[in-house]
Amino acid sequence: MRTLLLAALGAALALPAGRQTPGKPAVNLTQTSVVDADGKRIDVYTLTNAAGMEVRAMTYGAIILSWKVPDRAGRLADIVLGFDDPARYLKGDSPYFGAIVGRYGNRIGAARFTLDGKTYPLAANDGVNHLHGGTRGFDKVMWNGEIVKDSRGPSVAFTRTSPDGEEGYPGALTMRVTYTLTARNELIVDYQATTDKPTVLNLTQHSYFNLAGEGDILDHELRLNADRYTPVDKTLIPTGELATVDGTPFDFRKPTRIGARIGSEHPQMQFGRGYDHNWVLARSGGGLSLAAELYDPRSGRTLTVSTTEPGLQFYSGNFLDGTLTGKGGQVYKHRSGLCLETQRFPDSPNKPNFPTTVLRPGETYRTQTIFAAGRR
Ligand code: GLA
Repeated sequence: MRTLLLAALGAALALPAGRQTPGKPAVNLTQTSVVDADGKRIDVYTLTNAAGMEVRAMTYGAIILSWKVPDRAGRLADIVLGFDDPARYLKGDSPYFGAIVGRYGNRIGAARFTLDGKTYPLAANDGVNHLHGGTRGFDKVMWNGEIVKDSRGPSVAFTRTSPDGEEGYPGALTMRVTYTLTARNELIVDYQATTDKPTVLNLTQHSYFNLAGEGDILDHELRLNADRYTPVDKTLIPTGELATVDGTPFDFRKPTRIGARIGSEHPQMQFGRGYDHNWVLARSGGGLSLAAELYDPRSGRTLTVSTTEPGLQFYSGNFLDGTLTGKGGQVYKHRSGLCLETQRFPDSPNKPNFPTTVLRPGETYRTQTIFAAGRR
């Protein structure tokens, strides 16, 4: 697909952010635009901080295109999977690389739910189940991009109203997803939404991380702040049980090599073909709490995930199969990347004992997830 660089709009906006050294902006934000072969315009935003980190995101799918992070020797690598050309994503075969997924991230069993006595049928796009918002979810639509300046530094806000009935969901849903890069190497994702009719909602960020920037993620060490997880049936729909991780391959309470137990005979691991499960996060209160810590011993890069959400889907890239060629000609093979999707639990609209995903008129959906990159 041919991509034309249109213009460097808004030349390096040097905006005040956090603790800033005089004369040296802590975070910069620039915007450029590209058009795809069909003439569709995509705006791309680039955030850079003084520590040398760079995050790029675009209006299509509110997708995070890249996140460059230094290793322990200071060498930069892109720690998220995807394509070099922003227009390449419009082909529609990306497995949600970097995207905001919704209206309902993750699965809804039997592709239907009942709300206030009315049943809503949805697209069955994952066997008999509904996955990641349907045939054309929020990852495959154009959002509006807007540069925001607040006390935390410059941010890019993506906004969109999902029409009433889109992909079968009731209510016009007005959303705002903001990406902020801080001088402290955090990528803050703020979600906000309101609706004009009762609806269900579960927004998440679907970046695939590989802290080495290449190869597979089996040697990454993961810690999850969770004593329980939600076991699934063979179609990956939760049974409704909150099971202990004790004595299972799901116990990541201590940092553990992802590859150590990924080949386990545990029936849950067969259903997921590896890790593709939701963990019930241990929370110390209502606010932001630590969910996950990831470490790549070779490069020394680390990633910490904190969230206001009750759950986290850890997906070990089991469906990547070498058919997609991504950045720099890299072939994305089995387990080239992993996702840490902060969220409400899967199939909550059909599970009365799970935290609610219902949003009603007059209420505001507000969640926050912070990805912090580092090295040791
Ligand atoms: C999620 C799901 C996986 C898979 C990926 C995309 O993480 O839980 O089963 O659908 O998205 O391939």
